Amino acid sequence: MKIKIALAKGRVAKKAIALLTDIGYLFPDYSEDSRKLIFTDTTEAIEFFLVKSPDVGTYVEKGAADIGIVGRDVLMEHPAKVYELLNLNIGQCRMCVAGYADTRIQFNKKLTVGTKYPNIAKQYFNSIDQPVDLIMINGSVELAPILGLSDCIVDIVESGSTLRENGLVVLNTICDISSRLIVNQVSLKTKSAYIDPIIHRFEAMAL
Ligand code: PRP
Repeated sequence: MKIKIALAKGRVAKKAIALLTDIGYLFPDYSEDSRKLIFTDTTEAIEFFLVKSPDVGTYVEKGAADIGIVGRDVLMEHPAKVYELLNLNIGQCRMCVAGYADTRIQFNKKLTVGTKYPNIAKQYFNSIDQPVDLIMINGSVELAPILGLSDCIVDIVESGSTLRENGLVVLNTICDISSRLIVNQVSLKTKSAYIDPIIHRFEAMAL
């Protein structure tokens, strides 16, 4: 039986595939520019496929994938009924409030916040009693304060170079982010003979 793994496309995928290789699963058919959708390892123990990051939780919750690898940011923004078993310590970054260094946060005035993460932003500003107007943005979020669309942004910061190269700074850190291994709740019980050895290999690397 092949165990199906959903990987989040983008920044996590490369690191997740490297991690799969490190723990002994080789995918000779895989290349970044391939149009193939599903890749099987040489031992035929697992197959992985790449999906948009918010869909990883959906595939795993519904059982179309047994395992998923996705950032904590995505799980916070799009919660799924799955077991979050391991912090894989890859894809490390921070969820931050960012903007111009002189951004004035006036607590009696609504702050306009541009973000790909409206739920995380809402929860954070609620927790500090800051009223906000959220503007959903799908990419290049840093443009929002530069073009006057928002006062600040809530986004992930990895190397910090996107902020730096656009004259912005971190104003507050909301939380640390890294990639997580999630598992379908039924698969963990019914396919344990196949899934447990895979999880143990990940566990050994994550320590
Ligand atoms: C992410 C994030 C920031 C950038 C942070 O965007 O939204 O823009 O990476 O990384 P850095 O701190 O290393 O510069 P992503 O590259 O995923 O693309 P997007 O803007 O299209 O969402």
